[in-house]
Amino acid sequence: MQIFIYDTEKEIGQAAGKIFVDHVKANPNAAMGFATGMTPVPTYDYMAGEYEKGNVSFAGMKTFNLDEYCDLPREHKNSFYTFMMDNLFSRIDVKPENINFLDGNAPDQSAESERYAQAIIDAGGIDVQFLGIGRNGHIAFNEPAGGFTGEAFKVKLTDSTIEANSIYFDDIAMPRYAMTMGIGSIMRAKKIVFVATGASKAEAVKAMVQGEVTPECPASILQTHDDVTVFLDRAASQGLGVRN
Ligand code: F6R
Repeated sequence: MQIFIYDTEKEIGQAAGKIFVDHVKANPNAAMGFATGMTPVPTYDYMAGEYEKGNVSFAGMKTFNLDEYCDLPREHKNSFYTFMMDNLFSRIDVKPENINFLDGNAPDQSAESERYAQAIIDAGGIDVQFLGIGRNGHIAFNEPAGGFTGEAFKVKLTDSTIEANSIYFDDIAMPRYAMTMGIGSIMRAKKIVFVATGASKAEAVKAMVQGEVTPECPASILQTHDDVTVFLDRAASQGLGVRN
């Protein structure tokens, strides 16, 4: 793991976003893995800004998002699909047919999991995967559990995740289930760009970087991936014992 600590979220967004932009410039048909939530917003702003300046085209890029809520229409304002459209996809020239999501409303979840795994294989595997982290150490929606997961599956969200994300739901109750990529699928990404900001992530970051590799902190598995670049702000890095 290579760890970089920055002062501002904007600087992190530039550094993380540059990895995606440079990769797409060199490999226009690359497959990118994206996350939702507050953390990736500055990264997506940087990517959209580079497109607006004419510095990169995303017309050949394929995208795979990590997760999507169950029991929520795809077009609902709180779906991860809508989040990605608003924060990145509508701002760049990615082709709609190259955008891939798990279907949180698929009637047969194991068929949906197989479909997604096959789509990733057909795209040549994920080249660069963005990851954030939950306060409980989750990556995607792989919550602390008794074992590491494999392919995509339907997950019951924990109280910690529901508490963190229900602030975004003002008209309906936050869904209790989601479809998420599993740890096995995430670990097959060739490169991982990990970002955490804010003091609320410090404990999870410490467990991820310095703790035992355990499914009790799903992010700790990243210690065993050979290409992980970690971007932190000072608050998120405060448990690591490095001088700030
Ligand atoms: C969302 C996802 C989650 C988030 C995590 C942090 O697609 O994969 O693991 O990255 O819950 O969310 P924020 O960035 O809102 O703190």
